[in-house]
Amino acid sequence: KRPPASVLFIFGGSGDLNYRKLTPALYNLFLDNWMPDQFAIAGIGRSAYSNEKYHEHLLDGVTKFSRRKGKQNGHWTDFTQHVSYLQMDGDDAAAYHKITDLVKEKEEEWGVHPNVIFYLAVAPQLVPSIAQKLGALKICGEKGTTRIVVEKPFGHDLESAHELNLLLSSMFAEEQIFRIDHYLGKETVQNILALRFANALFEPLWNRNYIDHIQITAAEAVGLEGRGGYFEHAGALRDMVQNHILQILCMIAMEPPVSFDANEIRNKKVDVLNAIRRITKEQVHDFAVRGQYSGGWKKGEKVVGYRQEEGVNPQSNIDTFAAVKFYIDNWRWQGVPFYVRTGKYLNQKATHITLHFKQAPHYAFPPESAETWRSNRLTISIQPNMDISIRFQAKRPGQTMMLDPVDMTFDYDAAGEHAPEAYETLLLDVMEGDATLFMRNDQVDAAWRVIMPILEAWENRPPQDFPNYAPDSWGPDAADALIARDGHTWLNLPPT
Ligand code: BG6
Repeated sequence: KRPPASVLFIFGGSGDLNYRKLTPALYNLFLDNWMPDQFAIAGIGRSAYSNEKYHEHLLDGVTKFSRRKGKQNGHWTDFTQHVSYLQMDGDDAAAYHKITDLVKEKEEEWGVHPNVIFYLAVAPQLVPSIAQKLGALKICGEKGTTRIVVEKPFGHDLESAHELNLLLSSMFAEEQIFRIDHYLGKETVQNILALRFANALFEPLWNRNYIDHIQITAAEAVGLEGRGGYFEHAGALRDMVQNHILQILCMIAMEPPVSFDANEIRNKKVDVLNAIRRITKEQVHDFAVRGQYSGGWKKGEKVVGYRQEEGVNPQSNIDTFAAVKFYIDNWRWQGVPFYVRTGKYLNQKATHITLHFKQAPHYAFPPESAETWRSNRLTISIQPNMDISIRFQAKRPGQTMMLDPVDMTFDYDAAGEHAPEAYETLLLDVMEGDATLFMRNDQVDAAWRVIMPILEAWENRPPQDFPNYAPDSWGPDAADALIARDGHTWLNLPPT
């Protein structure tokens, strides 16, 4: 079923996120016949564009970044009939009548009261002022049909996130606020719930009795991609761990939900965040490692170090790599470490989760075969590979009883269908009013609470060894030491 009539306003309409992600996603929804019968999209920005020039600019983004490129036999022209550009300054309250005018116009044209969606794809410091002005508009009284979408980063720390939540909830009801974490829209991330809760096979083993430890890697091969100004105020822990990685961890660790109701799923996830062991500032060096890349060679190309990047302080102590060990203090996970790591300019782009099982309790096979005896492991690859793989021991063909570890893999590509991009799923959910894959205010708070001691300890104790990893590596040696202290090693999957 397609969503009801909708008008979408994209603040940051001439910006990068819209160019790379939002318009390509909306266009793909249109091509797949998921957009409402009646819809209008208005990009809002300060730069001057005629509608025609704006469409050309968006087409350029679609050609570079969409999974389906270019005009697609004239469908692009049909799509752009729904897309306009509103030149206005988000700080200028007097200009907001342009928004109400467009909604009224569409209401009259369509003869229905449409969903009104405000997507704030703008720098975080602009969010409060725009939200305030939107809240004051008459249309925003329409609970349920008026929605505001807020991009990450959601706050800079616990306090600022709390303030932002207070501000938004003074203007909008919680069910109108959609806090985006685009990892939750990824097919392979959503499939974690299917794997765990639609099968009888895995759940009985999914606990401290059988699992030794869990690893989550979200490695990026890219560097800053021109976002030095933003990153210098964020760092890897804020940029990736506070949101994407903790959300993945919640899906791996949560208790089975009773239903797929948005609040039921979010309650179960927030329980995990609240159960993550709080570490003291003094313990941080035993649980967390930070890194920063130096200059060097990246796949044969010379690249500058983080401190030499544009928009970055030459003495910067910002982390471009972070690794953390978490414990979850509940019945299911007591004593099972969750190791997570992320970083820029690492050896390859690879996001995967691995559950390392305990070794089988007794080995009854010939002792000479024990050399290749490995524990079982379940790997969920999120990207770029999209697969699930189980490693187990199998008999080596032949007359002797020798064993080898083998992999059994389910590959998404084999399913034939091309998976939608995360933003397609999430934008459709916003139009439908389904908040399951969005962050509730208490989830955001709880996630900040988890990382605050680390942030505070890092801010108060400048690193002595920055930069400490080379581009194309797997991060600083200290990250290997963090996991080696417990007798483990990071799983680096072979590149494809
Ligand atoms: C964003 C971060 O949220 O996620 C970026 O701000 C990061 O720094 C990006 O590169 C990674 O997203 P993806 O979908 O490419 O893994």
